[in-house]
Amino acid sequence: MTRPRLVVLSRRGHASLPDDLRRRLDEACDLTLVRRDGAPDHATAVALLQDADLVGSTNVCLPRLDGPLLDALPRLRGLVLLATGHDHLDVPELRRRGIGVSVLPEYATIAVAEHALAMVLALATRLHLANDRSRGDTGDVSLRGVELAGRTVGVVGVGRIGGRLTQLARGIGMRVIGNDIDPAAVRRAAAGGVQTADLDELLGRADVVALAASHVLGRPAILGPRELDRLRPGALLVNVGRPALVDQAAVANALRTRRLRGYAVDDVVADPRRDADLVREGRLLQTGHSAWWRDEVLERGARMWGEHLLAAVEGRPLDAVTWPRDNAAMELRADALPVAAAGVPE
Ligand SMILES: NC(=O)c1ccc[n+]([C@@H]2O[C@H](COP(=O)([O-])OP(=O)(O)OC[C@H]3O[C@@H](n4cnc5c(N)ncnc54)[C@H](O)[C@@H]3O)[C@@H](O)[C@H]2O)c1
Repeated sequence: MTRPRLVVLSRRGHASLPDDLRRRLDEACDLTLVRRDGAPDHATAVALLQDADLVGSTNVCLPRLDGPLLDALPRLRGLVLLATGHDHLDVPELRRRGIGVSVLPEYATIAVAEHALAMVLALATRLHLANDRSRGDTGDVSLRGVELAGRTVGVVGVGRIGGRLTQLARGIGMRVIGNDIDPAAVRRAAAGGVQTADLDELLGRADVVALAASHVLGRPAILGPRELDRLRPGALLVNVGRPALVDQAAVANALRTRRLRGYAVDDVVADPRRDADLVREGRLLQTGHSAWWRDEVLERGARMWGEHLLAAVEGRPLDAVTWPRDNAAMELRADALPVAAAGVPE
């Protein structure tokens, strides 16, 4: 059997994998590590990946894997992501083509839940604005905030991150309501003592709404104009999932009409001109997808990624979203029967 060819795209090149796992990968496959700071254009992606049976990548280094690129990568059998979210991928199409996808579901859970709590605290205390003022940025923005103890946080998406957030929020004396579309997640939350409610009820009762739900490519926002209208006046909203979970125009409107007191999102969503007032007033707080960027997550992620890459090379993928049954041959077979592996929701 020929050795599988694995191409790994990351910002840190060699340093993105622990030495021992890199050595084991070198023994098990033809490994090429490519250092990249951002997305390749189509021609560069083809040049980098056309000989690969397996690709390892961060979402930053390969944010698009569309039809024309897939057509140009006939050998590709699997994609091993250094990421939890995979909503940029058309999973049914990858499955149809017999291409597997695996993710790291756990590596950043603690950090992202802590980040969500930090966002809630920042919106409540307005400490980002106090810091602006200390640096001489003396706008007419009030630093007056609110206390959180005794208030209710509604967590939408009580999976790994949302579940952890419910514990953290209780730790500062908040009441917690949870919501999820997955009955198993609802059951787990309820077993952990979290009161659960449907989305409309949660929105009507929560002082703070925290979005920690996964997103699927093409699925509409969870919070559109109708849902935002149900919020209690002066509610806070934080989003550590994807920006697409929220209708951005509707949220800007809710901030301007003061139905929402603040919105924090772990991305950059503001239009520099249209939303400048909201950013200046600190009511739109953007953290640029930094929730996972922690010492421990980098170390944990490198090791987990190395283990997932090795597992994929050895034909026993871990945490697969989808993976073709016959992976060991490392050859795209027309009769390969793609299956969705258990364990990771799409
Ligand atoms: N900001 C970051 O740095 C960062 C890092 C990791 C993950 N994330 C995002 O956080 C998301 C959640 O991560 P996780 O590890 O908790 O995933 P998870 O799969 O453990 O939990 C997500 C939960 O959301 C639920 N859900 C999906 N759609 C929903 C809806 N419409 N309403 C209610 N619940 C819904 C799912 O059923 C699931 O229980 C990821 O999908 C990713 O988009 C962000």
